[in-house]
Amino acid sequence: MNCETRLHIDIGTTVHGWLKPISESEVAKAILTIDGESVAEWVADKAWHQFESFVATQSGELCIVWQSVETDVSVIYAFDPATVLEEGVRLAWTSERNRYPETSHHVHFHPPFGWMNDPNGLALIDGKYHLFYQHYPHTLRWGAMHWGHAVSEDMIHWVHCPVFLQPSLEVLSDVNGKGGCYSGSAVPTVDPLGLRVYYTAHVSRHLPDVQRQLSAVSHDLISPAVSDEVPLQRPKAAEGGGDFRDPYVFKGPDNRWKMLLGTRNSEAGIVLLYDSDDVHSPGGWRLVGPLHEDSSHGSSPAECPCMVPLQDESESGVTHWVLIYALLRSSDALTARRNLTYAIVGDFDGLRFKPRSKQELDFGTDCYAFQALTTPTGVRGIGWLANWTNFSKNADYPTAMTLPRLLAVKQDNLLVRPIPEVDRLRREMLDAGDLASKEGIALPDSAIEFSIHLAKPGASMRLIFSHTDFDLAVQVGPDGLEIHYVDPAIKITPRYLASNAKPSVLRIFLDRGAIEVFADDGRWVGSKRLSSFLPVTFARFEAVQEDIRRVEIWRLALNH
Ligand code: FRU
Repeated sequence: MNCETRLHIDIGTTVHGWLKPISESEVAKAILTIDGESVAEWVADKAWHQFESFVATQSGELCIVWQSVETDVSVIYAFDPATVLEEGVRLAWTSERNRYPETSHHVHFHPPFGWMNDPNGLALIDGKYHLFYQHYPHTLRWGAMHWGHAVSEDMIHWVHCPVFLQPSLEVLSDVNGKGGCYSGSAVPTVDPLGLRVYYTAHVSRHLPDVQRQLSAVSHDLISPAVSDEVPLQRPKAAEGGGDFRDPYVFKGPDNRWKMLLGTRNSEAGIVLLYDSDDVHSPGGWRLVGPLHEDSSHGSSPAECPCMVPLQDESESGVTHWVLIYALLRSSDALTARRNLTYAIVGDFDGLRFKPRSKQELDFGTDCYAFQALTTPTGVRGIGWLANWTNFSKNADYPTAMTLPRLLAVKQDNLLVRPIPEVDRLRREMLDAGDLASKEGIALPDSAIEFSIHLAKPGASMRLIFSHTDFDLAVQVGPDGLEIHYVDPAIKITPRYLASNAKPSVLRIFLDRGAIEVFADDGRWVGSKRLSSFLPVTFARFEAVQEDIRRVEIWRLALNH
């Protein structure tokens, strides 16, 4: 069968596409014409999707044609490099395998196609937030890692940009399909304006150092120059097998550049610290040593460490540093939750970190690989609204990012609040009158926020949601604050519990595929990926009336 896609293009329009032969004996081929005149041919004969790029030198109607018996085209999109940061890419083709479900999240960021995990390279450049992410463009499953890219002025409304980093040929040709451009971070460049990314190259064949660090600059903000090696000494005490990844680069309190890396030894997850006076010379990093060790879950590798300064809201002028990292394969015996993320509030002089307190970042555990960024409007961050617990390489697993968050510290506690721009999603207030009735209230198929003020801290309540595929409720009770989520399709049912939490105010954000609970101004936060994109249909309250002071329900929507 002939497949084709058509789109109008102008001089300079750039088209990206990925294609591979249907079988080993075939050669994949796509013909590009403009207004009927042949302008290019894409040919691929490898076992993986080969990247092709075309830049138009004339305007007109571009038509790309291929035979589906011999050629598998995964994605095609077009963009104008001069305006792509405002207008985004125009998606021209996706296959069945990488098409992101059309009816998914209403207000949560997700990729335009393919798989997504960790947020990477969060940066604010020229008034725009740049969000990169772990991406596999060709299926809704984890694969050879690319970096996807999106930009936004408010961290709520995002524009999709061209794929930013692509795995090397060594990775693509690896039959295990493992590796690629793993997680990392970005810093702006000033003159000329741009950004520099630091990331991990995972190449299974590079023994013993399967994971190395690379760095690349980009001045057009949409494509990187060739990556440089970042030679890093590895301390004997943290040889940690293959785990040596996720560089997070930031300015320390001594005005020098710092890099964190996640690793482990046989007893603990470890965050390593490196130091440099020039972030733009990738060869200039010096090992300071282990910054922090966490043996609470044995030898679980620390993943995606990040560190930010925050003024304590309760003692003016005192700045603490918060170190956040995930512990892969960690598990909580009490609740059966896995892959926990910790936040340590402490003091940091640029070389040593002295913890003051430790807490879980998110009792729902689906705020993984959290990455934060210091901005003029506070420390903002975002996490992967999932973790590796229920993931399988053999099943589609579409995911999103959490709502963006604003961090604060008060009396040595990290507070995690939705960014203020989230308030602007409120469209109209829904009638909460029948919430406490037997039936409850019917909910529109949209994102919804429940704002609940309890009459006293820890007053028992249960907000029950009706869904065809799972049981879902948010409850406050003697054990604490809990997202009760029971999905019969998932073998083990953890208790998503903030033990002993006694909140008074809850903000609950419900979207297709997601629930997030922010309690007491960010003192407790729980985020949970929901396995179905079908909407919740009803909500009903079980509570003693006197225990509830106020309830507001808002319909939320993006500006279109
Ligand atoms: C965390 C993580 C990172 C790694 C990336 C690979 O979710 O395991 O440590 O860089 O995912 O996709």
